[in-house]
Amino acid sequence: MASLEVRNVRKRFGETEVLKGISLDLEGGEFLVLLGPSGCGKSTLLNMIAGLDSVTEGDIVIDGRVVNAVHPKNRDIAMVFQTYALYPNMTVKKNIAFGLEMRGVPRDERERLIARTAALLQIDHLLGRKPAQLSGGQRQRVAMGRALVRDPKIFLFDEPLSNLDAKLRVDMRTEIKKLHARLGTTIVYVTHDQIEAMTLATQIAVMRAGIIEQLAPPQEVYEQPANMYVGGFVGSPPMNFVPATLAAEGNALAVRFACTANGSSGDVVLPLAEPSAALARWRDRPVVFGLRPEALTDFSEAEAGIRPHAHAFDCRVDVLEPTGADTLTYIELGGATAIARVNPRRAVRPGQTLRLMADMSHASLFDPETERRI
Ligand SMILES: Nc1ncnc2c1ncn2[C@@H]1O[C@H](COP(=O)(O)OP(=O)(O)OP(=O)(O)O)[C@@H](O)[C@H]1O
Ligand SMILES: [Mg+2]
Repeated sequence: MASLEVRNVRKRFGETEVLKGISLDLEGGEFLVLLGPSGCGKSTLLNMIAGLDSVTEGDIVIDGRVVNAVHPKNRDIAMVFQTYALYPNMTVKKNIAFGLEMRGVPRDERERLIARTAALLQIDHLLGRKPAQLSGGQRQRVAMGRALVRDPKIFLFDEPLSNLDAKLRVDMRTEIKKLHARLGTTIVYVTHDQIEAMTLATQIAVMRAGIIEQLAPPQEVYEQPANMYVGGFVGSPPMNFVPATLAAEGNALAVRFACTANGSSGDVVLPLAEPSAALARWRDRPVVFGLRPEALTDFSEAEAGIRPHAHAFDCRVDVLEPTGADTLTYIELGGATAIARVNPRRAVRPGQTLRLMADMSHASLFDPETERRI
């Protein structure tokens, strides 16, 4: 279990700066997921931690030691790539053993390490096969075996599941999670799949265009996104963003926005659950009201009774998308499209008015100019 620190790291390729000052501090045993869209610099950051790419500015620190000038093979790091990069002419066993042989590990020790790793990944029965004789998931396991066998300080994974079909991805995701629980090794894992990030990470770094927008545990990233970009990137469907005004409601503060119901447009006013003192200066000013689709549901007496901050309002339904578990219901709030998660047994048709319920204990507010969380 090694700690990892990245100190104000920048990376330039010629004129273009692709990492613009990245800092993070990770305790040993954490599972950090770098999450972000294509081209935001995830692989570049991972390659710099591995030592495969040079650092333009800043420091990479492993277990308290600056490793900028340390050769990749002396960093005690193992990396698993998206394209498994197995040697096609070698058996599975040889593929796993190769790195050990290169480093002069004696035969007995090699045999012991390979047996342990194969058992851990349940690939004992595949050791005699060549990569071409394996399924995608089995190849991915072998690639992981090659990394695991070395018992490194840190594992780096670069989109290891993106070549697998949907079912296998989910299975392997669980395998990786179990592996981390069992070994406790520090992991840095790159993906652009926000579900993978949510399920695996102890910490998520949400990246955009060479910077980290938020670094926090998954639930915090989900519940309290630092800005609208994070709220929109994490969660499927993403967080709803409603253009609204912050209004005074007696002693309380509320969001107010327009909504059409029963053929006419009117204002909906939803009191905030726990307005902070800092919010007072936003009174009568425009804000963006953020609410996850699951906090916007069809009204039910029983649910409203156990949710102290749930508030009902009526709204016209535009489009219905049944997903089985619930029906994604498109409505218009404050002039923007929003999605509510509605019970599939609720009989409603497009154009009809539905009574909804917003759970304001999950409300977020953003500055419309900077898009940052208020
Ligand atoms: N060797 C290089 N020379 C010049 N530009 C590069 C080089 N390697 C990467 N880049 C650029 O740096 C940016 C970040 O690339 P990187 O591979 O880190 O993205 P990524 O987040 O891993 O994307 P993806 O999800 O598509 O793998 C991209 O705009 C890319 O074109
Ligand atoms: Mg990449």
